[in-house]
Amino acid sequence: MSQAACTVEVSDLIKAFRVNGQPLRVLDGVNLRADRGTFVTLIGPSGCGKSTLLNIVAGLQHPDQGQILFDGVATGDRLGRVGLMPQRDLLLPWRTVLGNALLGPELHGEDPEAARRDALSLLPLFGLQGFADSYPAALSGGMRQRAALLRTFLCRQGVLLLDEPFGALDALSRSGLQEWLLRVWQQFGYTVLFITHDVEEALFLSDRVYVLTERPARVCLELDVPLSRPRERAITLLPEFALLKQQVLAALAGTCPDETGRPR
Ligand SMILES: Nc1ncnc2c1ncn2[C@@H]1O[C@H](COP(=O)(O)OP(=O)(O)OP(=O)(O)O)[C@@H](O)[C@H]1O
Ligand SMILES: [Mg+2]
Repeated sequence: MSQAACTVEVSDLIKAFRVNGQPLRVLDGVNLRADRGTFVTLIGPSGCGKSTLLNIVAGLQHPDQGQILFDGVATGDRLGRVGLMPQRDLLLPWRTVLGNALLGPELHGEDPEAARRDALSLLPLFGLQGFADSYPAALSGGMRQRAALLRTFLCRQGVLLLDEPFGALDALSRSGLQEWLLRVWQQFGYTVLFITHDVEEALFLSDRVYVLTERPARVCLELDVPLSRPRERAITLLPEFALLKQQVLAALAGTCPDETGRPR
């Protein structure tokens, strides 16, 4: 069953884990918003709580406090409303590319023949034409990521949560996949929450970037990216792009003032 894209809001999210009997606070009152059909990126230091945040939005983990709102409505049952690509691609090694892609439609009880035709028709767009019957072990890193993305897109949930989908790839494959992802996203119109460690990737892809502090994470910079679309790689050479990059790098370097006004 497909769902329309919606606005996603994260409101005052607090989360702690227990580690060796001690509380480990991971999210410290995080607020953010992705308007319907926009591309929003979270960037922050390793271990600050980005995957935890995405897993909470997906409904896989529960916050201690705070809410997730879809189109302004707090919803506890979010698992069936998002497509999540976890930090590791988690393709099922015993299923082919097509078999992996059909996981979402199968779980949703869609008509198998229609889902199969649909998935096959999308293989060229995902750069996987001719590989429907290949197993994950026979694919390159970039192809695995595209296969995992195809599976996530085919969940047709209107909200896509992508946890460092290009993290393990070399710069050249990564840059090609970013341009490709923008084209695919524009075709589907989903709301995207995307995680990366790469500042240029964040700015090139996004309508808005949130920079998170060290753990426990809170937002230290919310930055709208006023660059027109469709975007070409050449925008990364513009002075406006360099200025945005400087702001994100400064925030990541810990120059965001904390609640007392001092730099962290
Ligand atoms: N289930 C869990 N139980 C205990 N601690 C956890 C659990 N999940 C995450 N953590 C801890 O919470 C913190 C945040 O983890 P998380 O995976 O969200 O970070 P991250 O920002 O995604 O890091 P990275 O950029 O390296 O992927 C880490 O210190 C991690 O050890
Ligand atoms: Mg992570």
